[in-house]
Amino acid sequence: MIRLFTGIAFILISSLSFAASGSIPLKPVLIDLNNKSSLQRGAQIYVNNCLGCHTLKYQRYVKFIDHLSLSKETIENNLIFTTGKNGEPTKIGSLILNSVNPDSAKEAFGVMPPDLTLIARSRGSEWLYTFLTSFYKDETRPLGVNNALYANVGMPHVLSWMEGLKTPVNLEKDQYEYVVKGAMTDKEYKKSITDLVNFLAYVSEPAQLDRYRIGFWVILFLSIFSFIAFLLKIEYWKDVK
Ligand code: HEC
Repeated sequence: MIRLFTGIAFILISSLSFAASGSIPLKPVLIDLNNKSSLQRGAQIYVNNCLGCHTLKYQRYVKFIDHLSLSKETIENNLIFTTGKNGEPTKIGSLILNSVNPDSAKEAFGVMPPDLTLIARSRGSEWLYTFLTSFYKDETRPLGVNNALYANVGMPHVLSWMEGLKTPVNLEKDQYEYVVKGAMTDKEYKKSITDLVNFLAYVSEPAQLDRYRIGFWVILFLSIFSFIAFLLKIEYWKDVK
């Protein structure tokens, strides 16, 4: 019994310290892996804005044919912008890599931009959504921006062309005012970030798509089977008084 209490206390304390480690509360985000057009838009935003620094080295472009319902040509023309060492176009069967030189990246940002294939699993979707909507102008930082969730982050606000640039009115309450306008409204930006996080959630575990599909048929089978078993039970027991 004492062990049980110690265990529960430990879990409570560790979850409290986890909650305290983020500087602002996480914002909710609705992930829908069945929404193919959201996944497609997320992939587009990713290759245009993130792949320059962050690889997805455990994923291949060719998987987008099945998972994102895209044709080979669409992928080759709209999602593959990299080339091989000798300038040859990257093949559709290739892993999603970039050509960042780790030494130059370290010099520019202080750290190597991490691979993001598993980021949605290690950080969680809500963390990613909050991170990508919490950049703000901060002249004291080398890149001119800071992040309310990830203090003193080494990443530039690469989506400021979409969002604009904001300064905090009240960081804890998530209140800002815009000092530079972006190409999108606040609502449009949040929708694009939802698509991007949706895409990262899919990339972190593509098997989720299969699980949902197979899960539907399993539940359907179990429901029909339970009904047949029920009829059988009535049949067997009907003469037993
Ligand atoms: C110009 C290079 C660059 C681009 C482009 C870029 N990032 Fe980053 N990113 C970085 C660097 C550098 C870090 C490491 C920051 C640190 O640890 O302080 C980082 C960190 C991150 C992290 C935090 C990882 C972690 O768990 O520590 C996430 C998430 C992230 N980037 C997502 C994105 C997304 C999504 C995009 C595209 C919209 C993007 N990044 C575009 C350079 C970049």
